[in-house]
Amino acid sequence: MDIKLIQEKIAEYKAKGCEVPEPEMIKTPEQIEGIRAAAKINNACLDLIAEKIKTGMTTEEIDALAYDFITKNGGIPACLGFYGFPKSICTSVNDQVCHGIPDKTVLKSGDIINVDVTTIYNGFYADASRMFMIGKVSKPNQDLVAITKECMRRGVEACKPWAFIGDIGAAIAPFARKHGYSVVTEFGGHGVGVDFHEEPFVCHDSKKNTGMLMVPGMVFTVEPMINAGRRNVFIDSTNDWTVYTQDGSMSAQWENTVLITDTGVEVLAW
Ligand code: MF3
Ligand code: CO
Ligand code: CO
Repeated sequence: MDIKLIQEKIAEYKAKGCEVPEPEMIKTPEQIEGIRAAAKINNACLDLIAEKIKTGMTTEEIDALAYDFITKNGGIPACLGFYGFPKSICTSVNDQVCHGIPDKTVLKSGDIINVDVTTIYNGFYADASRMFMIGKVSKPNQDLVAITKECMRRGVEACKPWAFIGDIGAAIAPFARKHGYSVVTEFGGHGVGVDFHEEPFVCHDSKKNTGMLMVPGMVFTVEPMINAGRRNVFIDSTNDWTVYTQDGSMSAQWENTVLITDTGVEVLAW
């Protein structure tokens, strides 16, 4: 869609009182190609991790795999040094909700782990995460992983031009709760592409037809964090990063980077 037409349509929504994106939130075709190139490396990195991850491996070994792959392909792991984050990726195991720091932790049969990878390539960012089930995982934990993936899918499905960011959480939260789960709201999705975390913030529990208007050219993440128990979380005071469920219940997360197109949505990073 012609950027002139997009701007006209945005002005109409703004006149009606809708929250609309700032001009820099609408990526140019050149920027989109740049993000696509970063996503290609990021996707291949997660594919490699999917292939290699197994019982007995440490989370530090997964981190090394990601660092080597991303740098060998000319990229930079965005997490490394981000506000002092010490590793290249986040690895969040079992009751860790997000921002787990790779360390000597050995993966054991029954664990569920989120691996969150963000690549910078040529100045552009792509951000995605997947869950992995290690060895033999209990049925309740298998369900949590599968339902959380479906939460992400439903969130992505709600993304289309002239819909609203609030539609994403409206598609996710009732579905998660129907399964007895809760939705973390302290952390959420975000614009991405030219920087790691851009506006808008994407809350995974929200109301339909609220929040910012979605416009062709916007790039952001959908990354629901779903707890098997209560929604409350806390941050590990020993490292100021790792987020845990307060009640010790299991937590899962999946993340895609998506592009709003003229007709719908395209998943760039998965
Ligand atoms: N990749 C995470 C996200 O989805 C952010 C991790 S920031 C870090 O937004 F510093 F913890 F790496
Ligand atoms: Co993200
Ligand atoms: Co991420």
